[in-house]
Amino acid sequence: METTNSSTQNHSKRALAEAPIGVFDSGVGGLTVVRRIVERLPTEHIVYFGDTARVPYGTKSVPTIRKYAAENTALLLRESPKLIVVACNTVSALALDVVQAVAADIPVLGVVTAGARLALERSTHRRIGVIGTEATIASQAYHRELSRLCQHATIVSKACPLFVPLAEEGFTTHRATHLIAEEYLSELRNAGIDTLILGCTHYPLLRSVIADVMGEDVFIVDSAEAVAIEVETLLTRSGLLNLSNTMRRTKFMVSDLPQKFHQLAERFLGFALSQPELILWDSL
Ligand code: DGL
Repeated sequence: METTNSSTQNHSKRALAEAPIGVFDSGVGGLTVVRRIVERLPTEHIVYFGDTARVPYGTKSVPTIRKYAAENTALLLRESPKLIVVACNTVSALALDVVQAVAADIPVLGVVTAGARLALERSTHRRIGVIGTEATIASQAYHRELSRLCQHATIVSKACPLFVPLAEEGFTTHRATHLIAEEYLSELRNAGIDTLILGCTHYPLLRSVIADVMGEDVFIVDSAEAVAIEVETLLTRSGLLNLSNTMRRTKFMVSDLPQKFHQLAERFLGFALSQPELILWDSL
């Protein structure tokens, strides 16, 4: 009897390990997170939802962001993920508790905690800068998390809303981006930070300009990379890494303009993706 029980348990654990990692974001930017997960864990299946009908989230009110977070989580749960990754910094900052409540017993990881942890690991003098959308910076979520983890950290933050359209426009090394980065970041540079958290899905695309403006003494922490490290740790500890030899399955869903998402996607993801599926909120 015991043998049957343990073999059933092994079987269901294996089935769970083969379930996808669910990732969601307000749009295409969260593909920077998928990219980092896939680089670390190439055999994991991924199901992604980009809420392209309602993007951007970074300029919206807290109740709206929390409502979207709950709906996106419920949508991903239909795909039976083994883990949900909140790629969107704005949702991680303002609605991680909502995602956790809807996900119930499915584990949830957000980019804010992961980014804050990695920044503190890398920072030599605990002088940390954070950049993100208006909503993320106004929430002070990074500030709270960094102070919780280290009482002596000096934290300086700045909203950089124009970085999102610049990244989507493909202006990744354009001189206009350089000028805007100078304008946004000079305050952080003058504050003498030693580490800068890229607290928005889009900012990794502008990393070279940001690094250039900040100078070589400032360590850049990509919150996408930080959460990918936490995904690996969590799956390893819980014995849920997908160790089967099957080809990676990826499924992409969006709530509007699948064609546009498809065009932009490769820049964020680093490789071509299958045609995304259109999910209309009104038809759910
Ligand atoms: N994905 C958002 C974030 O990381 C940026 C785009 C938006 O404002 O929706 O905060």
